[in-house]
Amino acid sequence: MAAKTAEIAVIGGSGFYSFLDDTDELEVETPYGEPSAPVTVGEAGGKRVAFLPRHGREHAQPPHRINYRANLWALASLGVRRVVAPCAVGGLRPEVAPGDLVVPDQLVDRTWGRTQTFVEKGAAHVPFADPYCPVLSSALAGQDGVSRGGTMVVVEGPRFSTRAESQHYAAQGWTLINMTGHPEAVLARELLLCYAPIAVVTDMDAGIDAGAGVGQAEVFAMFDRNIERLKTLLARAIATVPDGGCGCAAWADDIDLPYDVPGRS
Ligand code: ADE
Repeated sequence: MAAKTAEIAVIGGSGFYSFLDDTDELEVETPYGEPSAPVTVGEAGGKRVAFLPRHGREHAQPPHRINYRANLWALASLGVRRVVAPCAVGGLRPEVAPGDLVVPDQLVDRTWGRTQTFVEKGAAHVPFADPYCPVLSSALAGQDGVSRGGTMVVVEGPRFSTRAESQHYAAQGWTLINMTGHPEAVLARELLLCYAPIAVVTDMDAGIDAGAGVGQAEVFAMFDRNIERLKTLLARAIATVPDGGCGCAAWADDIDLPYDVPGRS
C-alpha cells in the first residue's frame, strides 16, 4: 500500500487523467459511499499525487449530485494532506475574462440541500473565515499567468443563473461563479486537509454579457482548451509547494472530533 499512497491530490475534470506518470488505480471504499470514480495515484512535479475526476469518469455526476464527502474522505484515506481543485467558473466582473486563471481567496455559499459536514453529533465547529490554504494558494498563484484574489460564489445549479441573479452577485463585488466549490472546500477543512481552488474563467456570466447568456458547450470547450496549460502549471506548483507553513489543521488540535479523520491518531 505504501507505494500507492499520495501526499497531494488534484480533484478536476477527466482531462487530467494524463497528468500523472506511472499510475495505479485504486477503488476506495468510504463510510460515506462511493467516490466519483476510482482514484488514480502516480507522480507529478516530483511528488506522489492522487487524481480524482470530480464528476466521475464519464461526467456522470452533476454538481448537485457529487458525493463530496466520499471524495474527500477517499483522498484522506490514501494519505493525502493537500488538495488542489481546478474548476470552471463564470466571470462576474470586468477584471476577469474568459481564459483567465484565478486563485480566489473567498467563497460565498449559495448552494442548498448538499451535505456539507462530517459532523453528525457533538461539537466541531470548523473555522472557515479564510476558506483556502494560504501556502497552497501561493504555490498556485506564483505560476506565470495566474492571478490571485476575489470571491467565488457557488450556486446550486445545474442551471446557470438568470441575468438578475448574475447582476446581483456582481453588485455584491463577487468576481467568480461556479457550481462545485462548495462543500468541497469545507469538507477538506473538516478532514484537516489543505485545499485551494484554481479557477479557469470559461465565460462571462449571463448578466454581464449582453449576448445570449452562458451555455454548456462554451463552458466545456473553454475548460478543455485550457487543460494543457493547467497541467503544466499544476506540476510546477506541486513541485514548489513546501511542507507545512500553514495552520489549516490547527483548529482541531484541542478538539475530540466526533467523526473519523483518516490519518489522525
Ligand atoms: N461554471 C462555469 N461557468 C459558470 C457559470 N457561468 N455559472 C455557474 N457555474 C459555472
